Amino acid sequence: MGRLQVCDHPLIQHKVTFLRDKKTETKQFRELVDEISTLMAYEATRDFPLTTTKVQTPVVEAEGKIIAGRMVGLIPILRAGLGMVDGVLKLLPSARVGHIGLYRDEETLQPVEYYVSLPTDVAERELIVLDPMLATGGSANAAISILKQRGCKPTKLMCLIAAPEGVKAVQEAHPEIDIFVAALDSHLNEHGYIVPGLGDAGDRLYGTK
Ligand code: URA
Repeated sequence: MGRLQVCDHPLIQHKVTFLRDKKTETKQFRELVDEISTLMAYEATRDFPLTTTKVQTPVVEAEGKIIAGRMVGLIPILRAGLGMVDGVLKLLPSARVGHIGLYRDEETLQPVEYYVSLPTDVAERELIVLDPMLATGGSANAAISILKQRGCKPTKLMCLIAAPEGVKAVQEAHPEIDIFVAALDSHLNEHGYIVPGLGDAGDRLYGTK
């Protein structure tokens, strides 16, 4: 079973509180999503293996450690996942970025793909799926399935706020995926919003509605 890690560093908890605040305007909301994503990337890369190397300091030759041969791909789910990309790229500047767009079929309520664009070498990369809100888990599960169908290796899902329902759905459908969240909230309401949540992440990121 993949891990569920709540990244509850004080800096993250502090920033998430301002993210939740309905008075937080678009500019600050965007900055907070970016900053929290960087801090979460720090946690999500903790298992990256190191290889030893030699480094010549001004004083002596010493042993150093570097992350070698780790090829990463970031897969934001459109559109709110885009808000997390730059924050993660600050720590993983060589990562390639693919995009998955999904809409919800009005009748079946199931996510349907409308856009998939992936790096050419995507199957060789360790993929981190980005979506700020893990609500029912429908979009995350669909995105992970789309990647697997194309022979890819998604290993991690990074979300800012999760509902227990969404975590359970992903763990059941894709038990090998490690899930990283900044906060695990109480539940989903009858409109599918996470409670207490932060409202619609896409609208708050882009100032729509
Ligand atoms: N998507 C959002 O943006 N917010 C929620 O609360 C649930 C899904």
